[in-house]
Amino acid sequence: MILENFSLKNFNTFGVDAKTRYFTEVYSVDELKEAIHFAHEKSLEVLFLGGGSNILFTKDFGGLAVKLNLIGISVKEISDNEVLVTAKSGENWHQLVRFCLTKNFGGLENLSLIPGNVGTSPMQNIGAYGTEIKDVFESCTVLNLETLETEIFDLEKCKFGYRDSIFKQEKGKYIILEVTFKLTRKNHSINVEYGAIQSELQKKNITKPTIQDVSAAVIRIRQSKLPDPKITGNAGSFFKNPTIPKTQFLGLKEKFTEIPGYENGDFVKVPAGWLIEQCGWKGKQIDNVASNPLQALVLVNATGHASGREIFDFSDMIIQSVKKKFGIELEREVNII
Ligand code: EPU
Repeated sequence: MILENFSLKNFNTFGVDAKTRYFTEVYSVDELKEAIHFAHEKSLEVLFLGGGSNILFTKDFGGLAVKLNLIGISVKEISDNEVLVTAKSGENWHQLVRFCLTKNFGGLENLSLIPGNVGTSPMQNIGAYGTEIKDVFESCTVLNLETLETEIFDLEKCKFGYRDSIFKQEKGKYIILEVTFKLTRKNHSINVEYGAIQSELQKKNITKPTIQDVSAAVIRIRQSKLPDPKITGNAGSFFKNPTIPKTQFLGLKEKFTEIPGYENGDFVKVPAGWLIEQCGWKGKQIDNVASNPLQALVLVNATGHASGREIFDFSDMIIQSVKKKFGIELEREVNII
């Protein structure tokens, strides 16, 4: 069924009330292809929606918005210690993580409670608390939108980087239909390198954490500083953490001795949250939009009535401030429509 002049308020975690000219939900690849044909016939632009957790509508959309609801999870044991778990794109990410924890499949526990769906996880190589999906990624099946044929992408072909992949670089070319992860069945490699996980485990006197313990710790950390989009509209980190040349970082360090940075070869990744906080934006609200008081990198629809334009303009003011003070140009992580 194709609906007209449909509000997308419930389909983006910012809760922005933007409208789409046409809207449909698809539950199979055939329905997806039908929707694409409809758009082609009417010469409409198509927008594919997953969980809506990384998108900001700054205006109404004049084409066809397609909500991808393909669901299903399957498991294939490949060795004594390894299993392949394949999830369709419309599966909720955290439900997949929970499914794996129940079966004691290790690898996704650090990525607990990330909003959004499985299908968009490879787009920006989702990552948190020391793990990125590239660490457990086996392959994904995509629909090539030019040929309408399915293709399989392995790890190398996905060209994963920090919040980056081929799907982001060649936006609009592929739709991810399902993703396969290679997980462990018993010899789990527990990753507690992120300091806050260690502190959470210590608080509970856990010295030999299970994957379930790690997941519980991650959930507590996230809940302590990231607002629940069901309550306060947001899209997680609004900006990427900028990577700057080491020489530039050392120059900044002379002036701002406290500046944190994570070295990676000749480059240093600087936490955008720190830069934003130093510019006085943390917890600041202008009309309906605010920077989260507990994590400045997260912008929120504070009143529930913010327009996408307002959120965008707020983010622009932050970019200008950070540029003026530090000479660093923040890049938005959220997709802007
Ligand atoms: N910081 C501040 N003030 C703030 C926020 C952060 O000074 O208001 C500084 C602190 O020095 C802190 C450092 O930034 O130690 C890092 O903060 P945090 O550990 O919260 O992580 P982040 O770099 O801000 C990234 C991801 C998050 C992910 C966390 C944990 C990006 C853009 N964001 O945030 O991902 O959950 O690490 O691994 O890389 C998301 O993508 O939506 C997201 C939430």
